[in-house]
Amino acid sequence: MSLTVSVEGIWKSYGGHDVLRGVNYSFNPERIYALMGPNGSGKTTLLRVLSLLETADRGEVIYTDGTTAPLEHNIALRRRITLLLSSTGLFNASVMKNASYGLSIRGIRGDEARERAFGALSLVGLGEMERQNALTLSSGEAQRLAMARAIAHEPEVLFLDEPTASVDIENTQAIEGVILGMKGTRSIILSTHNEAQARRLADVVLYLRDGLIMEG
Ligand SMILES: Nc1ncnc2c1ncn2[C@@H]1O[C@H](COP(=O)(O)OP(=O)(O)OP(=O)(O)O)[C@@H](O)[C@H]1O
Ligand SMILES: [Mg+2]
Repeated sequence: MSLTVSVEGIWKSYGGHDVLRGVNYSFNPERIYALMGPNGSGKTTLLRVLSLLETADRGEVIYTDGTTAPLEHNIALRRRITLLLSSTGLFNASVMKNASYGLSIRGIRGDEARERAFGALSLVGLGEMERQNALTLSSGEAQRLAMARAIAHEPEVLFLDEPTASVDIENTQAIEGVILGMKGTRSIILSTHNEAQARRLADVVLYLRDGLIMEG
């Protein structure tokens, strides 16, 4: 069975402000979810909690793959999931080095890493730019590189925080094409402010309102 994630009763507050107020939801495997909601409604917070970068004040994030009881939140589980943040965090090295970063921290190096990273770069249309320094890329190219880096190691659950924020139409189409190309292969949970994009990409559109998830 594929890796699946669900949340039960997630509460998260910052300085007395309740951002998430008991969120319950089971994400089906192999589905694409779009998470919408106004600025400050808690989308990034929820993605950070789901991807185990941040712990909730209360409630559970439950990962299962059908083999045992809920999986421990250990490094082995963390390696099977990825969160792409809208601030991309590329570093001062070649496009190839950046694209293969997620592979190298998972112990995949050498020719295999290069081939897989090159495959991901080709998917986002950056195959020809593997030697360019990542910090010299345009913001649309940088966002596509961040996408390549997020998918090169084929995470089983992929979280994308506003994957096309401040990206032009052509790059948005490229990134959407990559997301649609993964449809049916893993759970993808992405946040967006673009209703039309949510409908183009997602099987299920979710809204965060008053700290709770509603299906749209
Ligand atoms: N580490 C933090 N410390 C204090 N407050 C925080 C922290 N992280 C998030 N918040 C607050 O929590 C609320 C929700 O923020 P979050 O980034 O999750 O919203 P969002 O829905 O992603 O918004 P946007 O659409 O602007 O990206 C905001 O009021 C934000 O200021
Ligand atoms: Mg956000």
